[in-house]
Amino acid sequence: MSDLNLRPKFHINGGNGWINDPNGLVKFKGEYHVFFQYYSHNVYWGPMHWGHVVSRDLIDWKRLPIALAPDEQDDGCFSGTAIVWKDKLWLIYTSYKENGGGENIRQLQAVASSEDGINFTKHGIVIGEKDLPVGYSPCDFRDPKIFSEGETLYCLVAARKVDGRGRILLFSSKDMFNWKFECDVLDRDSGGTMIECPDYNSELGLLTYCEQFQPAQGNKHLNIHSTFYRLGNLDCKTHKSTFGNDEIIDYGFDFYAAQIFKDTPVMIGWLNMWDRNIPSQKYGFAGMLTVPRKLEIKNGGLWQTPVVSAQKVFEKEIDGTFTDKIKIGMININAKNLKTFNLYLRKKKDMFTSFCLKDGEWVFDRSRSGELIEGKERDADSLAGIRRMPFDNCADTEIIVVLDEFSAEIFVNGKSLSSTIYPDPDADGLELEVKADECLLRRFDV
Ligand code: FRU
Repeated sequence: MSDLNLRPKFHINGGNGWINDPNGLVKFKGEYHVFFQYYSHNVYWGPMHWGHVVSRDLIDWKRLPIALAPDEQDDGCFSGTAIVWKDKLWLIYTSYKENGGGENIRQLQAVASSEDGINFTKHGIVIGEKDLPVGYSPCDFRDPKIFSEGETLYCLVAARKVDGRGRILLFSSKDMFNWKFECDVLDRDSGGTMIECPDYNSELGLLTYCEQFQPAQGNKHLNIHSTFYRLGNLDCKTHKSTFGNDEIIDYGFDFYAAQIFKDTPVMIGWLNMWDRNIPSQKYGFAGMLTVPRKLEIKNGGLWQTPVVSAQKVFEKEIDGTFTDKIKIGMININAKNLKTFNLYLRKKKDMFTSFCLKDGEWVFDRSRSGELIEGKERDADSLAGIRRMPFDNCADTEIIVVLDEFSAEIFVNGKSLSSTIYPDPDADGLELEVKADECLLRRFDV
């Protein structure tokens, strides 16, 4: 019998209803605030609200009242970001207006502010149609990312040229209410259609954004909508940027719309994907956020480490095979000169999710993980429930597996692969086969 109250134990979720993108990651008066796209009345996407949780340590999250809701101003409060400015917490979000649909849709940028970080007052649209340069569509203009440099406020907004290609526009303001177009920051059009959810962190020198329907490049960007990162900096005054090649942030099936706290280099993404069925809908909820991930730039790339509260249960040298039972928790495996690695998670007879080293690359397989998840992807790997990640064949390999109800997030030497899985609630077997010069496994409760 299924437990109809099943929920992720430590991943941010909406309780009931639908959630998608994390929004407005910000530290305000000593607390980390995370908002998210939320529709509590149904397990499908609907008129968008901003759900809200808060934490002192990024681990224990307290649910707060809905921060933004549709009203006569907005048919939906789409994604956006937050900033602490003049002692208040400000949210900048996309005010969505249906206007009968099609070319009449308007997506324009609005602000709201709060003194206590709980109750927000809307102030209306601040980056409107008149601020959009010629040649860009007001129907696809969304997901503002606000930041400041000195006295100036800046905002990156995803936009679409009327010829159909996604771009990212930079605006500036001195007072939050009047914004001036500065430049189009990308050196090229998006490979797919619209760009979504740009985020820029000047401390890390990191630009992240999503492209819809971008073409796959080898094993990269196999999800129909994909989240990239590019290392480099943007000089907001001279409009010169130094962003390098685009790299994939997460190699799994379910990762989108990531945002990063400003002064704490920690990223959170949506642990789902558009255009897929979500089996947890029958439990009354759809969607959750990834665990927070500490970010570092190492060896010219992004290095992610999960932020979880972990109590060690045991550690064990592994040589050959190992079996255990684990449904929710964390496993760390440190191997020297790894040769063979076959890991089976949430196993119950023929049901399992595997993560194996095969022919010099990591292969994740959820084809037998439980309830079937289908998307719009039509490439052979996606149809087979497979995702691959490069194996950096170095002397020391660290594998971290974070398991919660309905998800597996796997980190190998800073690279990540995250996917939802829907096994039977009592599928809890773990089987591991390792060949390495040394291998230490540590098991944690989370
Ligand atoms: C990304 C996105 C955003 C938009 C929001 C609507 O997942 O499509 O571009 O603001 O979701 O919920």
